[in-house]
Amino acid sequence: MFKKFKSLVWQHGFIGLLLLSIYQFWWKIFNYFILFLKGVDFGKNIKFEGLINISGGKRVHIGNNAHFGAGVIISAGPDGEIFIGDDTYIGTHTIIIANKYVKIGNNCLISPFNYMIDSNHGIALGKLIRLQDYDVDPIVIESDVWIGVGCAVLKGVKIGEGAVIGARAVVTKDIPPYTIAVGVPAKVIKKR
Ligand SMILES: CC(C)(COP(=O)(O)OP(=O)(O)OC[C@H]1O[C@@H](n2cnc3c(N)ncnc32)[C@H](O)[C@@H]1OP(=O)(O)O)[C@@H](O)C(=O)NCCC(=O)NCCS
Repeated sequence: MFKKFKSLVWQHGFIGLLLLSIYQFWWKIFNYFILFLKGVDFGKNIKFEGLINISGGKRVHIGNNAHFGAGVIISAGPDGEIFIGDDTYIGTHTIIIANKYVKIGNNCLISPFNYMIDSNHGIALGKLIRLQDYDVDPIVIESDVWIGVGCAVLKGVKIGEGAVIGARAVVTKDIPPYTIAVGVPAKVIKKR
């Protein structure tokens, strides 16, 4: 505890540390207030590194000890549901959108700048794309998964327990448990 305090003082100085504590305190209060106001179903001891943006009210479920980077956007549409497990970290500027269902398990590490969207726009010829219905298929990310920075996880994908996804991958198909997958589209390169 003292060691942690010493290293924080070393990094920020006493005044910096004081300002940081005040800043973090207010983000926490503000985010909790918004979650409460929006009727989000959230657990205990959630950590926030900055302002986050959540819509979808009680269709968004956040587990205990979840941790959010600044600028995270979570949006469950009118028929969508989003689950974020216990002790899971969602990195800064990650965007999670569910028109049906997106689940992230417990103890996951979702690095910054990830996109998880369970829908495509309809693209039938002869009608404006923006006027077409979504093509929707759930995303399930099991527990203890680490997704590297800047990945996109597309609709209908299941990422198995303990899998690792390399930075900047685009995940278009299921990834088996305890494997490491990289690239566009993401392919398994080895087992852990
Ligand atoms: C996926 C990852 C964990 C693999 O690490 P590793 O097991 O040490 O793998 P290696 O470095 O031995 O790479 C194995 C092969 O995959 C390739 N590779 C590794 N990561 C890659 C990636 N993100 N995209 C494409 N190819 C990748 C390597 O070039 C290598 O190819 P080669 O065999 O042809 O030389 C790592 O490369 C990675 O992407 N980490 C994410 C970092 C990150 O986002 N950090 C944010 C933390 S919050």
